[in-house]
Amino acid sequence: QRSLLGLKDLNAAEIESILDRAAYWEQQSVKLNPVLQGKFVANMFFENSTRTRFSFEMAQKRLGAEVMNFAAAASSVEKGESIYDTVKTLESMGIDAGVIRLKPIGMLADIAANVKVPLINAGDGNNEHPTQALLDLYTMRKQFGSLQGLNVSIIGDVQHSRVARSNLWALRKFGANVSFCAPDSMRASDLDAPYISMDEAIRADVVMMLRVQLERHAGSVMNSAEAYREGYGLTVERAKQLAPHAIIMHPAPVNRNVEIDSDLVEHPQSRIFPQMSNGVPIRMAVMERALS
Ligand code: CP
Repeated sequence: QRSLLGLKDLNAAEIESILDRAAYWEQQSVKLNPVLQGKFVANMFFENSTRTRFSFEMAQKRLGAEVMNFAAAASSVEKGESIYDTVKTLESMGIDAGVIRLKPIGMLADIAANVKVPLINAGDGNNEHPTQALLDLYTMRKQFGSLQGLNVSIIGDVQHSRVARSNLWALRKFGANVSFCAPDSMRASDLDAPYISMDEAIRADVVMMLRVQLERHAGSVMNSAEAYREGYGLTVERAKQLAPHAIIMHPAPVNRNVEIDSDLVEHPQSRIFPQMSNGVPIRMAVMERALS
């Protein structure tokens, strides 16, 4: 039974085995493979989610698990119960594994150390979002065959991005070259990676746009959304400079016409919706790894 709290401390072989197992699950034509029959899993989301929550549920159901969904807004968290007590409560009732998304950074490791069931990080603050990065690596590997030597530009709100952190740490283990591009106010002082200009960033093999986290910028970015788009958005005009083999990625949700023009979301070079499809076999592999 294995938790997945982040990719920083996972080695390349372990990551690769998850990607390989996801490829196996993607190839299965039968939708229901009840390898987790009799296992109870709880999806505990203390922060909102669409993709991560539903693709975990899809993955768990495709593997035959019994799924329980916990939404903080409809729980005793509203009465002041802590995240730790909530997780311990569900563990006491007999869950076999938990998927958890939460805001506070550093709390997840403490909780995992105090419960006996495997926990899977579905995003913790701006620290890590391991299953998002796994599906991103999977998408890149499917496209290019290998991650070795791949030039990946991660553009936008790096400071608040757990996706940027998990991708940086994971991609480097496979010899990819990761660069960031961001305005000064969105740079991350804790990350050791080069910052490059927008002109340079869009010449990469992978152009990964990040969501401007409007909820964490207290409205200031929204007031200058057009200025942000001009400086750091992937506009239709800029996309003309993409290499023909390059792909556009974005973890979503997307602020259309802020970090990426609406017309590019389903552009032939965009992999935004395929990323979401790839999230299901990745999370099947992660659930199987946790419970097998
Ligand atoms: N990419 C991602 O984590 O999306 P959700 O917030 O909808 O889960």
